[in-house]
Amino acid sequence: MKNILVVGADRGIANAICLQLQARGDHVIAVCMGTTEPYTEGGVETIGGIDVTDAKAVARMAQELGRRKTKLDWVLHVAGVLGLDELGKIDYDDMRRQFEINTLGPLRVIEASMPYMAANAKVGVVTSRVGSLGDNSSGQMYAYRVSKAGANMVTLNLHHDLSKRGIAVVALHPGMVATDLTKDYPGNFNYIQPQDAAKGLIARMDELTLATSGQFRHANGDQLMW
Ligand SMILES: NC(=O)c1ccc[n+]([C@@H]2O[C@H](COP(=O)([O-])OP(=O)(O)OC[C@H]3O[C@@H](n4cnc5c(N)ncnc54)[C@H](OP(=O)(O)O)[C@@H]3O)[C@@H](O)[C@H]2O)c1
Repeated sequence: MKNILVVGADRGIANAICLQLQARGDHVIAVCMGTTEPYTEGGVETIGGIDVTDAKAVARMAQELGRRKTKLDWVLHVAGVLGLDELGKIDYDDMRRQFEINTLGPLRVIEASMPYMAANAKVGVVTSRVGSLGDNSSGQMYAYRVSKAGANMVTLNLHHDLSKRGIAVVALHPGMVATDLTKDYPGNFNYIQPQDAAKGLIARMDELTLATSGQFRHANGDQLMW
């Protein structure tokens, strides 16, 4: 049984991850921005009211972890937003909001969680293939692409700093998943369900070692370009 912190767990992919981990016998702490209602009957432990852009809220999350005296085996940061934009009509305030959530969010949360990580913990950050520099062949989505490219850099940097201490770090792409996030996403894709994405992401975390730390992986196992 592992102690696993999942952040951004109100709904979507993170919710499916929490339920699957709990069902297989891990001890899950689901960190939610809103209420913790989705977990009232599942037996999943929760910390509610944590907006990853709010330093005080994240400090409260850390206090809660300290109070529990749990040593975390995994920290999985999943919280994120997608705002669509168009060149010529970019909303720079919204771009800042996406940067705060998608880029600074994982850094703030993981930094705050460090004192509560086990010596050989693993860290996963769900970013997006849309944030890959090497894979960008279509343009658009400035705020999301830039904020997720930043999240990839945060993750690679964390790998350099944390792997020295025995903690393995991976950036993860969940696939194209049918959630609220993608309901207005342009184009036709074969969306997978959150449960399938969760299964793949958990498998990637299971197989993560210090030897494979510092990579960007699709939930299906493919290694992606930064
Ligand atoms: N769906 C896809 O195809 C896809 C593809 C590539 C990458 N991703 C990434 O996968 C992650 C999960 O996406 P999803 O599809 O599951 O989206 P979702 O269903 O919209 O869920 C997003 C989650 O993030 C939480 N969140 C948003 N802003 C937050 C904040 N400031 N503080 C704390 N939590 C916050 C939301 O909480 P509330 O419910 O309270 O708003 C929600 O639980 C995101 O990082 C996304 O960029 C998704």
